[in-house]
Amino acid sequence: MRLPHESLAFQMLGAAMAVRAVNEGTALPQAIEDAASHLRLDRVRDAATRGALQDLAYRTMRQFGTARALVTRLVTRPPGAQVDSLLAVALALLLEGEQGDAEKAGRGGYSAFTVVDQAVSAAASEPKTAHARGLVNAVLRRFLREQKTLLPDVNRDEQARWNLPAWWLRMLREAYPDQWMALAESANVRPPMTLRVNTARIPVQQYLTELANAGLAGVAIGEQAVRLVRAFPVSQIPGFAQGDVSVQDAGAQLAAPLLEVADGMRVLDACAAPGGKTGHLLELADIEVIAVENDALRAARIDENLSRLGKQAKIVVGDASRPGDWWDGQQFDRILADVPCSASGIVRRHPDIRWLRREADIARLVTEQRRIVSQLWPLLKPGGILVYVTCSIFPTEGEEQARWFGAQLTDAIRLEAPGQLLPGTRAPDSAGGQDAGPASLPSDHDGFYYARFQKRA
Ligand SMILES: C[S@@+](CC[C@H](N)C(=O)[O-])C[C@H]1O[C@@H](n2cnc3c(N)ncnc32)[C@H](O)[C@@H]1O
Repeated sequence: MRLPHESLAFQMLGAAMAVRAVNEGTALPQAIEDAASHLRLDRVRDAATRGALQDLAYRTMRQFGTARALVTRLVTRPPGAQVDSLLAVALALLLEGEQGDAEKAGRGGYSAFTVVDQAVSAAASEPKTAHARGLVNAVLRRFLREQKTLLPDVNRDEQARWNLPAWWLRMLREAYPDQWMALAESANVRPPMTLRVNTARIPVQQYLTELANAGLAGVAIGEQAVRLVRAFPVSQIPGFAQGDVSVQDAGAQLAAPLLEVADGMRVLDACAAPGGKTGHLLELADIEVIAVENDALRAARIDENLSRLGKQAKIVVGDASRPGDWWDGQQFDRILADVPCSASGIVRRHPDIRWLRREADIARLVTEQRRIVSQLWPLLKPGGILVYVTCSIFPTEGEEQARWFGAQLTDAIRLEAPGQLLPGTRAPDSAGGQDAGPASLPSDHDGFYYARFQKRA
């Protein structure tokens, strides 16, 4: 049976394919790409269907702990990975209806009856899942009938209750005994869409007027940051194609100003793709930027992003921890080390990360972060500044690392910096016993960690 593209059933089917792939280890953006290509969705003609499929898959990731626990509880014999995932997508929608305003935020406005009906149609439409349509119907109906008792029962498992792995919750609790619940909740909140205005081209106030003229509303939340009241495709954002604005979280926008670049400087952006911070640096001053990235596919995106801004950098596909392979021997005035990390600070934006990471990854990342910074330090000129950034909220990747660098790099002076930014909050007044940094602090941002070191002249 062929389902119409605009039907919820078709979109649930696609979302279930993506969810299944994440469960098997693929990152969600790639999983969505693969599902769309399997369903032969055209990027332009089927943009609305792709968007709806993506939205369902993201919603499911935010409810995946609860949804999986419910499937385990309600299904006695494993019905196969695709049916499991379809049930998870449908249950995530039904759960949203429970938690929020079903008409607006929850369920995308679908009634519980429609969700069940469309999930059954989705199962019936594929030869591999058609056998399970009765099961899908029975499980979802039972959930609706018994949710008042089922939910408290499955929520006794903390992974189901918080939609975060147990090890992740343990790390949050240890680091933030008073705030861990708010942080766990924040992982399941939809992130704002924030723009960075290139103020060399257009002042923020003038840009806000342009937004209003286009019928979009935004609020200034930082020196260059404008948070849109609602997310829109970039094709509808005024000035995006011309490079007046870029999409970048307000916390990420603190990185480039912390480098205090000036015309003529030679700057190393050491882990650069997709080039969000590279573009920002190039907007701030007339500088030479060497952008190093070890993933060739991701490195290609730096050039795409810079061309839109009308900027250029020397892009090098290489390993930041092996400068011997790519460095020409000339030291840098500034180094940005936006190192690979757990991404625990941006989990609301990338809700699949928590299900893909393993606890053992953290120790491996800590070692890699140390290796990268230690290898980059000799490349910095005396008097030069290195900014260490992670989009993590785990102190092992943040303040503990900064202390380690301070102890290991004997010619380093620690400068003021924002330290740990927790998602959705202002920066703390002090980071590692120091004052907050010079950049003005936005009020709704992802989680980041910032430290700065200057090399003794
Ligand atoms: C946090 S992201 C960088 C985001 C980027 N700075 C921006 O603002 O758009 C980290 C990047 O480092 C890359 N990476 C990881 N290990 C690396 C290494 N050893 N050398 C160079 N790049 C690396 C990853 O592929 C990823 O693109």
